[in-house]
Amino acid sequence: MQAFIDADRYWLNVNLATMQQGRYAVQQDRAVAVKDGRISAIEPMSALQEFIGRPEALAGKGGWLTPGLIDCHTHLVFAGNRATEFEQRLQGVPYEQIAKQGGGIMATVRATREASEQQLFDLAVPRLQALMREGVTTVEVKSGYGLSVADEHKLLRVARRLGEVFAVNIEPTLLGAHALPSEYKDNPDAYIALVCEEMIPQAAEQQLTRAVDVFCEGIGFTPAQCEAVFSAAKAHGLAIKGHTEQLSDLKGSQLAASMGALSVDHLEYLDATQLQPLVDNHTVAVLLPGAFYFLRETRLPPIEALRAAGIPMAVATDFNPGTSPLASLRWMMGMACTLFRLTPEEALAGVTCHAAQALGCAADRGLLAVGQRADMVLWDIQHPAELAYQQGVSCLKQRIFNGEVHHV
Ligand code: NIG
Ligand code: FE
Repeated sequence: MQAFIDADRYWLNVNLATMQQGRYAVQQDRAVAVKDGRISAIEPMSALQEFIGRPEALAGKGGWLTPGLIDCHTHLVFAGNRATEFEQRLQGVPYEQIAKQGGGIMATVRATREASEQQLFDLAVPRLQALMREGVTTVEVKSGYGLSVADEHKLLRVARRLGEVFAVNIEPTLLGAHALPSEYKDNPDAYIALVCEEMIPQAAEQQLTRAVDVFCEGIGFTPAQCEAVFSAAKAHGLAIKGHTEQLSDLKGSQLAASMGALSVDHLEYLDATQLQPLVDNHTVAVLLPGAFYFLRETRLPPIEALRAAGIPMAVATDFNPGTSPLASLRWMMGMACTLFRLTPEEALAGVTCHAAQALGCAADRGLLAVGQRADMVLWDIQHPAELAYQQGVSCLKQRIFNGEVHHV
């Protein structure tokens, strides 16, 4: 009760999906107090009668509280768009072929290199706001469309500034090894050396990133090249993660996990019989149903094997101009259920506690528990399964960031 007297703010008569252990872990008819941006108390309403009078008539009517949603994989900062490639692909030209002809990621790189930091910031704002309007309070933002030391760092600075200007946590990730820039087309190892010897060390020194990502793929980089990038990242105290097994099985997931990756992402071609490195290293499997849908992929990630192995599954938008121009984490939850057969409970865990783990920030984000950051969403719903079920109609009552209600 003292915590409520001392609180900066409190919510009464709410039901909670706390997401402990990846379950809804529902607590009904609760009061939640917040102090200094953290959850300071969660009590049954019945324990607070003296403090607030007779609350029974209002039981659970304050709405449902969940942790703030976390989009743990985006490429939010870029210029240009690839609508013409979308048309090409619908006429049958494969994504890989477009990339090999200089389109794809490289088309976005050309537009992004030409854009100023201010232009990139302005372009990213509506994308970020679309996510925030749905209750997102943490967004991972990858670089990867600069592919030179200066341009990659430019993207990371834009990401950082988004977090300074808006009421949202931004987690920047350096994805220098996303595609081979044309300047290095005859010497990919020299580009990898640039990533390892300049891009990563300088980003670490300037505190522009906490993690390093790679695209381990035929149209990206080989496992050996990715291993070199991971080693450099670790040598500079940075976390690692990978785009792996999106288009083929190069065993990038096992490599990344065995080197301690926070997450491996995409995974449509992941071998269901080779998951032990992920288990051993507590690596999160990040599922990206938007890219699966948009590329009209037919091969599913090995969901049942991941589930059976107890590997935490996160769900993210992968927002990017080529494979997932879809700025809706709620829609991803729905697609994770309809396309990948996750349960709505798994989908919600995928955008809260498991997404926090994929970013290495589960110590204070992704759950409703005393001591966690007070990043929360108050929903007008009858049951948390609704969050993966109905699309396009907002059921958000309040988006709470750092203990304060923010309107986007
Ligand atoms: O996550 N796979 C590599 N990177 C992005 C796509 C980037 C692009 O096509 O611009 C992805 O799908
Ligand atoms: Fe991606």
